[in-house]
Amino acid sequence: MGRPTALITGATSGLGAEFAQQLARSQHNLVLVARNVSRLEAKAVRLRTDFGVEVEIMPADLLTDDGVASVAARLADRARPVRVLVNNAGFGLVKAFEHNTAEEETDHLRLLVRTPMQLMHAALEPMLERGQGRIINVASVAGFIPRGSYGAAKAWGISFSRFANLRYRGRGVNVTAVCPGFVHTEFHQRMGANMGRIPKWMWLNPDQVVREGLADSAAGKSVSIPSRRYAVLIALSRLVPDNLAAAAGNRGR
Ligand SMILES: NC(=O)c1ccc[n+]([C@@H]2O[C@H](COP(=O)([O-])OP(=O)(O)OC[C@H]3O[C@@H](n4cnc5c(N)ncnc54)[C@H](OP(=O)(O)O)[C@@H]3O)[C@@H](O)[C@H]2O)c1
Repeated sequence: MGRPTALITGATSGLGAEFAQQLARSQHNLVLVARNVSRLEAKAVRLRTDFGVEVEIMPADLLTDDGVASVAARLADRARPVRVLVNNAGFGLVKAFEHNTAEEETDHLRLLVRTPMQLMHAALEPMLERGQGRIINVASVAGFIPRGSYGAAKAWGISFSRFANLRYRGRGVNVTAVCPGFVHTEFHQRMGANMGRIPKWMWLNPDQVVREGLADSAAGKSVSIPSRRYAVLIALSRLVPDNLAAAAGNRGR
């Protein structure tokens, strides 16, 4: 039996690059998906050299029909099975819902909800046929509180992962929503957000988020909330009224 293959979207930076690194370290071959070709090539060279695994790159814009179709076709290819799918690509919008255009909100919803749903759909049938697979949907703690269209989109990832894990785990396919708090990546810089108000203790490193997320996925959990401090915060947020939870969440907007 050869090495299993993991396909990761948004693998050029932040959490996606860390998933690639940790999965390569545990001897997975990789398919790396993102838009930036030179960054994909550089990551692939590094991972092949450091871990001796095979790395394919798939440049694709997951906001386009062609981009999603090419990745879905790779996931559906029975001759080259994918054991682990990590739906990770994403971005945030710095302005409030009413100040964004409908097109901006539509793209945001598409990358965070429609694309992962389509890729899960493509991956699931071959995984169920083999009775083996893992799907990780990178959601957010924002999905547990009222926090704009970002929180609502991530709530879909959590809810759908909980359903899918219940439905498919018994057939060999684990589905896990990994829900980080604030993580040091390019995410906030890309969205142009000033994060100066966020206290130091609220920041996590990608290494910890991915390590705990992969462990929870391997254990068959539907939801992973990396770090004890965020697990406690989310448990508490369920006890307070919506307006208090929303006020706390809005500090990071
Ligand atoms: N950082 C946080 O505090 C935090 C907290 C909770 C959840 N998350 C979630 O974690 C996930 C990863 O974000 P990150 O923090 O690692 O941010 P990041 O460093 O900005 O990485 C985002 C990745 O997504 C890719 N991407 C963006 N748009 C794409 C598109 N249209 N098609 C294909 N790939 C695209 C980017 O690559 P290219 O530019 O090369 O395409 C990049 O590899 C996101 O789903 C985010 O919502 C982040």
